[in-house]
Amino acid sequence: MSTRAEAAASAVALPSQGGFAGGEMGAPTSRVDPARARQRKLPDPKPLDRHGPARIIAMCNQKGGVGKTTSTINLGAALVEQGRRVLLIDLDPQGALSVGLGIPAQQLDRTIYNALMERNTTLADVRLPTRVPGLDLVPSNIDLSAAEVQLVSEVAREQTLMRVIASVRNDYDYVLIDCQPSLGLLTVNALTAAQGVIIPLECEYFSLRGVALLVDTIDKVKERLNPSLAIDGILATMYDTRTVHCREVFSRVVEAFGDTVYQTVIQRTVRFPETTVAGQPITTWAPTSGGAAAYRDLAKEVLAQ
Ligand SMILES: Nc1ncnc2c1ncn2[C@@H]1O[C@H](COP(=O)(O)OP(=O)(O)OP(=O)(O)O)[C@@H](O)[C@H]1O
Ligand SMILES: [Mg+2]
Repeated sequence: MSTRAEAAASAVALPSQGGFAGGEMGAPTSRVDPARARQRKLPDPKPLDRHGPARIIAMCNQKGGVGKTTSTINLGAALVEQGRRVLLIDLDPQGALSVGLGIPAQQLDRTIYNALMERNTTLADVRLPTRVPGLDLVPSNIDLSAAEVQLVSEVAREQTLMRVIASVRNDYDYVLIDCQPSLGLLTVNALTAAQGVIIPLECEYFSLRGVALLVDTIDKVKERLNPSLAIDGILATMYDTRTVHCREVFSRVVEAFGDTVYQTVIQRTVRFPETTVAGQPITTWAPTSGGAAAYRDLAKEVLAQ
């Protein structure tokens, strides 16, 4: 077993197995906010004099509702504020990334599905500009659910997304892929195409349990399909400073994964569901909010990597 898989296993050790310090989860341990205690000044990103080839990052966690889509949109928008060109790829048949950027994906005839399945359709044919200049989107809708089945019989099925991204990679500095909550073939395609993985993790005990399986899958893809794959970072989302439970889970994750955990944490706030309705990133919908500041900090961390 790799060290990372061991770390993941230790992160989910139950209290009865000597897991969480202080006995039951929720029991008071310390008054210090462990997230705040890790904060260091972040370096200002350097301006670019040319663009591309992009670093490709998969936003991945098979647990649903942990902030993958929200983080894809807002990290993307924050990178654009730093002068980067960014392409967001919606790889979830639910199409939440597309909707979150104000694009009525269910009505589109051509989406990521066509680029994956048709030899004569490229990503350039299906990508769309968003309201944020410099931020492009490859939309998705329910059509993509068929791809999971249809890809199975393709030659080099795991490399399909990698092949289609290659034609646009030089146009961007970052390509962020929003994965669906599963470890199926589409997610394996994202992990095969990517150089880095960002794992959004809700600060809640049950979120920890799936991480070992996810890390194991990432290790397998690295071994068999994509030797250059790395975990860029674990991003704590929906963090609530006031709850001891949340702080304990965060401490546990930091203990297990160390510097792989971004120092930026995303607080739980109703501003994020609001942005979905508004169809735009928090950086433009509520530019002075704490949520916008947090994703700007995350962008600085990503740029410093
Ligand atoms: N920091 C936050 N605070 C409060 N609500 C949030 C936060 N981040 C995301 N949300 C909300 O939680 C819900 C799930 O978030 P999101 O869609 O980003 O998760 P996901 O991991 O992409 O979900 P799925 O697995 O279904 O694709 C959304 O309604 C979103 O607006
Ligand atoms: Mg999502």
